[in-house]
Amino acid sequence: MGRFDRVYAWFDDRLGLSKAQTFLGKAFPAEDSYLLGEVAAFCFLLLVLTGIFLGFFFEPSTTEVTYEGSVAEYQGEEMPEAFVSVLNITYDVPFGMFIRRLHHWAAHLFIASIGLHMLRVFFTGAYRNPREINWLVGTALASLAMAAAYTGYALPFDEFASTAASIGYNIATSIPLLGDPIGQIVFGGDFPSTATVPRLFFLHVLVIPLLIAGLLGLHFVILIRQKHTEAPRDEDVTGREHVDRDDDSVVIGLPMVPNQAAVSAAVFFLTLAVLSLLAGFLPVHNIAEYGPTDPASTPSLVMPDWFLMWGYGFLKLTPAWMSFDLFGVHVSSEFVGGLLLPGLVFVSVAVWPFIDYESEPTHFGADPLERPVPTAVGIAGVVFVMLASIAGMDVIVADLVGSTTAVIRPYLTAILIIGPILAGLTTYAVLGGFGNDEQAGGRATDNDGGDRSDARSDAIDTPDETSPVADKDGKQPEDPDE
Ligand code: HEM
Repeated sequence: MGRFDRVYAWFDDRLGLSKAQTFLGKAFPAEDSYLLGEVAAFCFLLLVLTGIFLGFFFEPSTTEVTYEGSVAEYQGEEMPEAFVSVLNITYDVPFGMFIRRLHHWAAHLFIASIGLHMLRVFFTGAYRNPREINWLVGTALASLAMAAAYTGYALPFDEFASTAASIGYNIATSIPLLGDPIGQIVFGGDFPSTATVPRLFFLHVLVIPLLIAGLLGLHFVILIRQKHTEAPRDEDVTGREHVDRDDDSVVIGLPMVPNQAAVSAAVFFLTLAVLSLLAGFLPVHNIAEYGPTDPASTPSLVMPDWFLMWGYGFLKLTPAWMSFDLFGVHVSSEFVGGLLLPGLVFVSVAVWPFIDYESEPTHFGADPLERPVPTAVGIAGVVFVMLASIAGMDVIVADLVGSTTAVIRPYLTAILIIGPILAGLTTYAVLGGFGNDEQAGGRATDNDGGDRSDARSDAIDTPDETSPVADKDGKQPEDPDE
């Protein structure tokens, strides 16, 4: 035994390295759409890193200070310290503008990739037994990502940010019974109080990122424990040996090290490259143009970013008469549009795996074209969110059609109700749902056959660098996860 082998054997004896090696050989599906989750994870990492940089220069305070930076028009003016510090980051701190833009674009890509990842999981039915828990964890992650973005863009306390924060404050305080304490805790009391920016800052840089990091850890632990689903296999899939199309006791894919690790590294650098390009060439939220907050005025066109637009749409479309009293408790239309309806959307998403319930473990992703009901529901959901987002831009729509928001809102409401139903029915019809009931269950039943989740726990062989591997569980050493 050579010296290296002896050292290795010593460590192996104490740390069980051969088990780790087995773990490192776990198979990852060689499917591009499975990389969307990785893009989201890398965006989170970049958000944390760029956020740390910004944290060194941002001042979470609304105390008025004299501006002495390099933007000529504000020279010598008294302005909130938070606003002044973001101006400094943008125009005076070396690399500040680039990092601020990188942080901004990473936030957008984070939410976009979460949305697409969620759609991939939804349309392939990857949320079904045994992955319902990870779907729930994912739904919580999606809502936290939006909360992170919201608390972030209130921070510079420019004219736009303070308007957004005041809308959030009004919605929060509209919560029946709990509104006032929540307004006190989250926004520091009557808006705008001097505590508003420090509270939102605390949520943005500590509470929400920690929750996201914790849930992300749980997401990955569950994923490693349960394994990925696999895309339906082609007839001729082979690794070292032929694997049956329907044999879900075997995982086919690239071993985590070195193949998948190399793919992930490429995904990371591509994500970084795309974000750097965006940050280099596309300006973000120009606070110098918006100017510091001015309690006496409201910007003419207030609109949230695209990912919150659907919630804003609900707020716009909920008519004032929807305020009512229930058992002596006042429920305002602001609460209905701003929290109840968006909350119902999240609850519907969360409970979906229990509606499209599968009693047996299902380890193959489904073909969406073979599942008319879930696919139709998914398309209806996407259309619903898109139409709600258009309703959030009602000012622009009214401008386009030469009318007023008051006139077009009833039409937008009707379209919001009818559009998704039509889209869902059309999808269902196109997929043969009306004519061919057998298809409606789809592949869900193709992969039944008892509890095979344990059988799949060993995807470990490390084959040659290029071909997909097929790992038979029966031939593997004991499961490193046990
Ligand atoms: C911070 C946000 C998120 C990150 C970073 C993330 C990351 C990942 C990664 C890397 C995977 C494995 C590869 C893949 O399937 O793409 C995965 C799987 C999964 N994710 Fe997420 N995810 C996030 C949010 C969500 C959301 C919003 C949902 C759904 C509501 C969700 C549900 C799932 C499920 C069910 C799986 C297992 C899929 C399978 O085995 O095919 N995730 N996630």
